Amino acid sequence: MLENLPVLLSEEEVQKRIAEVAAEIDKDFVGEDIVVISILKGAIFFTVDLVKKMKTPIELEVMQVSSYVGTETTGNLLVKKDLDRDIAGRNVLIVEDIIDTGTTLSYLKEYLLSKNPKSLKIAVLADKAERRKVDVKLDYTCFVIPDKFVVGYGFDVDEKGRNIPYVGYIED
Ligand code: IMP
Ligand code: MG
Repeated sequence: MLENLPVLLSEEEVQKRIAEVAAEIDKDFVGEDIVVISILKGAIFFTVDLVKKMKTPIELEVMQVSSYVGTETTGNLLVKKDLDRDIAGRNVLIVEDIIDTGTTLSYLKEYLLSKNPKSLKIAVLADKAERRKVDVKLDYTCFVIPDKFVVGYGFDVDEKGRNIPYVGYIED
């Protein structure tokens, strides 16, 4: 079922765009360092490729959060894996795979701001802009994508398909 999915973003396109975004981030953080917070599990793939292309010194943290119960977005942030260290006074970059309604990222942003970072920025691989319900300022967006269910390069259907090397989609 997940074989030969139609391609939304090819491996080459993804890598090329990530290199551009990495350069943008480096330009914005000259002389600084960053605590990169990768949001498990989907953003692992994007995070690895992004930080390898960056020259800015980073420390890597992971968090696992969700605002989902079943397929409906609910109002609360569920923190399944929290930070291991203090981010007070640090430049923080949230690295997330996708923004859909914006609920997850807006709650996560609020949560992290309460820990008093020096700065807080957000990088996303894919923005389903037309689905937004909650306004969230994105600092770095690789791709604005149509309202399709994407699979591959970290994106899953019931935990499957994350290792597909490109971003495909399920046809409706
Ligand atoms: P939001 O809170 O509505 O912005 O939801 C974002 C979360 O929904 C992401 O972190 C994903 O886990 C999930 N999600 C949204 N769209 C897709 C998709 O097309 N494929 C896989 N997961 C998705
Ligand atoms: Mg998911």
